[in-house]
Amino acid sequence: MNEQAIFETQDGSHSIFSEEFKVSYHSKYGAVRETQHVFIDAALRFKAVLKKDIRILEMGFGTGLNALMTYLEAQKRNLCINYTTVEAYPIDDAQVALLNYNDILRVSETDEDCLRRLHTAPWNVKYAINDNFTLLKLHTFFETVEFQEQFDIIYFDAFAPNAQPHLWEEPLLKKMYDALLPEGILTTYCAKGEVKRTLKAVGFEIECLQGPPGKREMTRAVKG
Ligand SMILES: C[S@@+](CC[C@H](N)C(=O)[O-])C[C@H]1O[C@@H](n2cnc3c(N)ncnc32)[C@H](O)[C@@H]1O
Repeated sequence: MNEQAIFETQDGSHSIFSEEFKVSYHSKYGAVRETQHVFIDAALRFKAVLKKDIRILEMGFGTGLNALMTYLEAQKRNLCINYTTVEAYPIDDAQVALLNYNDILRVSETDEDCLRRLHTAPWNVKYAINDNFTLLKLHTFFETVEFQEQFDIIYFDAFAPNAQPHLWEEPLLKKMYDALLPEGILTTYCAKGEVKRTLKAVGFEIECLQGPPGKREMTRAVKG
């Protein structure tokens, strides 16, 4: 997937437009704001009330923004994170170097190398970013990945259903349900009726939450 263009979203943070899938990696209303709302607030902070040692699965590593903001939140709240992420089409180093997340997030000098390290960490082996953040990047397809463990949180960040409908259907969503620990949660920016019905059909309880800027709703799915 080579033809990709970086653009600025409305909060000033960068995103990427995928020519192959004809869709962007984040909301045009703000990449950082979307990640903060859908994944950090609705999933990580929600779970961190109950536990400090948290296993996260991300579907779609992309720019690394979700991973970076999770790392920064973990530093602030003294969380211990095991972060597994799946990506079939990694972006290249030249694109990573152009991303403006350190500036927008006002990342301290101590952590300013973190985004680069998240990207240069080896694929398919566990790698310690620091004592409290372990990263496992799986270079494979969502459809075929097999997990060796279960998770507290899934950041379900696939491209939207109109771009990749099969990723929002029962087989993959059932795989997500099975990958969660009891009381585990999945969050997604998507609030489409059909997706919520499928999440329910595979066993989740659904919460409709206020969406990030530009979206009325988002979804948090809880494994009972
Ligand atoms: C919405 S973007 C993820 C954004 C990312 N979480 C971030 O913080 O930048 C979706 C990601 O899924 C990846 N992807 C698309 N189809 C895939 C598949 N079948 N298997 C694995 N990754 C896939 C894309 O390359 C892209 O990086």
